[in-house]
Amino acid sequence: MKLPYAEPYKIKTTEAIRTSTREEREQWLAEARYNLFNLRSDQVFIDLLTDSGTGSMSDRQWAGMMTGDESYAGASSYYRLKETIERIFGMPYFLPTHQGRAAENVIFSALLKEGDVVPGNSHFDTTKGHIEFRHCSAPDCTIDAAADTQLEIPFKGEMDLEKLERVFKSHPKEKIPCTVLTITNNTAGGQPVSMKNIRETAELCRRYGIPLLIDSARFAENAYFIKTREAGYADKTIKEIVREIYQYADIMTISAKKDGVVNMGGFVAMRSEELRRKAMTFGIMYEGYVTYGGMSGRDMDALAVGLDENTEFEQLDARIRQVKLLGDLLDEYGVPYQRPAGGHAIFIDAKKILPNLPKEQFIAQTLGCELYLEAGIRGVEIGSILADRDPDTHENRYPRLELLRLAIPRRVYTDNHIRVIAAACRNIYERRDEITKGYRITFEAPILRHFTVELEPVK
Ligand code: F0G
Repeated sequence: MKLPYAEPYKIKTTEAIRTSTREEREQWLAEARYNLFNLRSDQVFIDLLTDSGTGSMSDRQWAGMMTGDESYAGASSYYRLKETIERIFGMPYFLPTHQGRAAENVIFSALLKEGDVVPGNSHFDTTKGHIEFRHCSAPDCTIDAAADTQLEIPFKGEMDLEKLERVFKSHPKEKIPCTVLTITNNTAGGQPVSMKNIRETAELCRRYGIPLLIDSARFAENAYFIKTREAGYADKTIKEIVREIYQYADIMTISAKKDGVVNMGGFVAMRSEELRRKAMTFGIMYEGYVTYGGMSGRDMDALAVGLDENTEFEQLDARIRQVKLLGDLLDEYGVPYQRPAGGHAIFIDAKKILPNLPKEQFIAQTLGCELYLEAGIRGVEIGSILADRDPDTHENRYPRLELLRLAIPRRVYTDNHIRVIAAACRNIYERRDEITKGYRITFEAPILRHFTVELEPVK
């Protein structure tokens, strides 16, 4: 008999979680004003709000925490992280930051000026926020196929090169300080970008003299998909693939809270010493001195180990298999989601489940509340609450897709938890015709409203 698959690690520490009754959850959700961000974590049984900073570190990472050097300047932890970044990404210069958006803040402070244009493949919210906050624009050049949730293609997160070239052609070079390529493409469903597309994006950028910045939050998962899906890469190691990806990049920003498998951390790295010098001042102002940025010595050591370990195939295979298990179970139960299963999350297609719910009643949010009430599972709305209001007209923006993201933390939940998640989705799917009412907003902040929005059920 062929032996079944098992994870390449065993578990040394556990953390208790508790189930609750439906009555308790109804009360807690009402107290949270129907905003899942407002729930206390002990009111949640399985927390799929994000895979960011929520992973389990390895024993070697914890050991790294003990060898952390907390010297203000020149800490050995900094040099261990620097050596790792050079070896894994081939990037000679870097500045540590406390997380991904901080890296964006530092580099965009050095690069952007009012009126600039920064094209990309579905910029993440904070990236777009940092661009628009500087009165610049962030045209989206993602391939159209990404918007069709039922279409099954291997690299659904790619840059549309024709759209990108159109942006390049319609602005002078000086107005485009960089192009942002996000791997994997979180907003499009954790969907990867092929090496071919990375290379061609870089070539196009080079032809127009525009630097390429890779937003690298889930770079290792993207490399896994290149290895397993793209011709010519099956026999290459993840580390070899990562080295090739970054040959094409001039700059990288990273939220290390994802594929670095640390609870906090990030950095910006670059090939140009001149750019590092320029960015350094902002790093010092916003984050901290250049050899720690926003991180403690121990955090830099844990990250150095995490980057090394999580660029090994076995680790990524275990993770992506688990996300795929959730996708396979949903297939079995007929629950629609963004296909194929992504690297870090499943994005449930809420519009397909609740086709008769008016969009004004927040379809994905309604589904998110239902999933919490059903089983104490917390996902996150990627729909019209997140899309916010138009800054000029103040009308609600209703995006084409209403998705409920179920992000799977790394090495945290077992396959049994995954089965509970799938069963809960199935139960809701089976009683979907009974869900006829959604929510209305009673309070919202002027920007980034999704974090603090308050709602009430439509009577
Ligand atoms: N870029 C991408 C692609 C991201 O997914 C995130 C964060 C960031 C940048 C910003 O990094 O949070 O460390 O400041 N994504 C998290 C998520 C929050 O839940 O997807 P950060």
